[in-house]
Amino acid sequence: MNILLIGSGGRECAFAWKLSQSEKCTNLFIAPGNAGTANYGKNVNINPNDFEAVKSLALKEKIELLVVGPEEPLVLGIHDFFANDEALAHIPVIGPKKEGAILEGSKDFSKQFMERHHIPTAKSKSFTNENLQEGLDYLANHATPIVLKADGLAAGKGVLILDNVAEAQDELKLMLGGKFGNAGSTVVIEEFLTGIELSVFILSDGKNYVTLPEAKDYKRIGQGDTGLNTGGMGSVSPVPFADAAFLNKIEERIIKPTVNGLASEGIDYTGFIFFGLIKVGDDPYVIEYNARMGDPETESVILRIENDLVELFLASANKELGNYEIKISPKNAATVVIVAGGYPGEYEKGKTISGLENIRDSYAFHAGTALEGGMVKTNGGRVLAISSVKDTQFEALQCATADAARIYFDGKYFREDIGFDLI
Ligand code: AMP
Ligand code: GLY
Repeated sequence: MNILLIGSGGRECAFAWKLSQSEKCTNLFIAPGNAGTANYGKNVNINPNDFEAVKSLALKEKIELLVVGPEEPLVLGIHDFFANDEALAHIPVIGPKKEGAILEGSKDFSKQFMERHHIPTAKSKSFTNENLQEGLDYLANHATPIVLKADGLAAGKGVLILDNVAEAQDELKLMLGGKFGNAGSTVVIEEFLTGIELSVFILSDGKNYVTLPEAKDYKRIGQGDTGLNTGGMGSVSPVPFADAAFLNKIEERIIKPTVNGLASEGIDYTGFIFFGLIKVGDDPYVIEYNARMGDPETESVILRIENDLVELFLASANKELGNYEIKISPKNAATVVIVAGGYPGEYEKGKTISGLENIRDSYAFHAGTALEGGMVKTNGGRVLAISSVKDTQFEALQCATADAARIYFDGKYFREDIGFDLI
């Protein structure tokens, strides 16, 4: 079948790699893709948020399955657009409609959803300009640190953690005043939870679901988890502190009530749910929902999924996950992300990447790369995800870290300590 994959990051490169291995995959198109996805299919340079352009492509290439990687087109309603268009309605879409993507698109919605379904999460209250004064008063009596979250999508920058009340009050005013544009027109004020984070993923067909391997993401730019937050500097899967008893709590207290809650609210959810969790003591709490897979979690997770990915997606689209057996490798996967100098602040693009041919025993999933005159150049902050799968976590980490060191471009940086805290 002909498959169209939307997105251009490391997550999409990992998906493209895995989709292209399926016997069911005749032609794979990636829009817009990167230099790495071009190894597994045909890149088409269109903007995924331009749904008319996606439609033209889908009709021209007789697309039979649409897989949506990033959150933005989902929150903007790409699935609804396909479902409501006579010429496209027959094409199954992996990724929820707007009504489901709102789990990620509105933190206020997701907090209220969790409250309605008794899903453990940090206590919170939402405010807008209408009740700004109430918000300032609420903060005056709030324990510190205080978490402020812009309600809408803010490219991963909409969460602030503040150590004192006065600062939080100033930030609340700035956020409601437009610091994050419309995304901050509602602000969620949340209690700070102390614990260790992990990510759990399911693929849902609206009624049933399969649980994918859990992962841990390393968000900070600096060694030893220091410095600014990034999109993710590396990941490991499995997560050693997530033992069977803890994973069972996640399933019973979080996954099942979420899937059942969506169904009970009439939300027909086809696609991934990414549970951003924190382990407080021995108990899991939800930090956030995402309506997609994580990046760079996908690059590790995908290496442990033994099923044919096209078959898995079709089972989801056809609501057949109830009878589907997911096969997870017991091996350990690790991913080290190589970024451009300056990231997550300002950075340059267009640096020539060399050494890809020297990688020995890892996969090089491209993230911010582009092909220019036959050369692979940097084209984003997160440039490459180097992933390894081995019997032990130590071997996987060592291998991915050693292979990351074999790549070169001007300004290159990666963390050499990913995952070693867990060993
Ligand atoms: P988010 O964009 O919701 O993933 O938040 C970004 C990061 O902020 C999370 O990965 C956590 O590290 C941190 N964070 C968000 N909410 C909380 C909370 N209630 N308590 C502690 N840390 C939080
Ligand atoms: N790695 C975190 C995310 O994909 O949101």
